[in-house]
Amino acid sequence: MIKPEGVEQGLVGEIIGRFERRGFRVVALKLSTLGRELAEKQYEEHRGKEFFEDLVAYICSAPTVSVVVEGENAVATAREMVGATDPKLAAPGTVRGDYGLDVQRNTIHASDSEASAKREISLHFGL
Ligand code: RTP
Ligand code: MG
Repeated sequence: MIKPEGVEQGLVGEIIGRFERRGFRVVALKLSTLGRELAEKQYEEHRGKEFFEDLVAYICSAPTVSVVVEGENAVATAREMVGATDPKLAAPGTVRGDYGLDVQRNTIHASDSEASAKREISLHFGL
């Protein structure tokens, strides 16, 4: 998912292009402003943490782009391309290393396991 500031900065094509050039195939794509209920489910694992409320408000604050990509070893490769959560610690050449603004506004979300991917695809696309 390309987060609000990634969409605002006009990075949608650039980010999806990175995944396509790396050999991923786009199989679903949607621009939407997430509702609170979906956002809370998306970030359920963080409920109760001090940044949870802020995170949910931010992710619902403007349109995001949800993308399903398909490819070899997809979860691990995508997480590697995304980089560390805090852009200051993310390697150059990763999406967050190149474009992230701060630990919250880090440009992109990527599913962290096959189970999360299945859960999130169903949340975002009803598939
Ligand atoms: P994501 O779920 O978005 O792919 O990111 P991640 O696995 O690298 O990081 P995670 O720990 O799951 O955190 C989810 C998102 O919450 C925001 N965050 N803010 N203020 C903070 O300390 C803090 N920590 C995390 C970020 O937007 C992070 O991507
Ligand atoms: Mg996460």
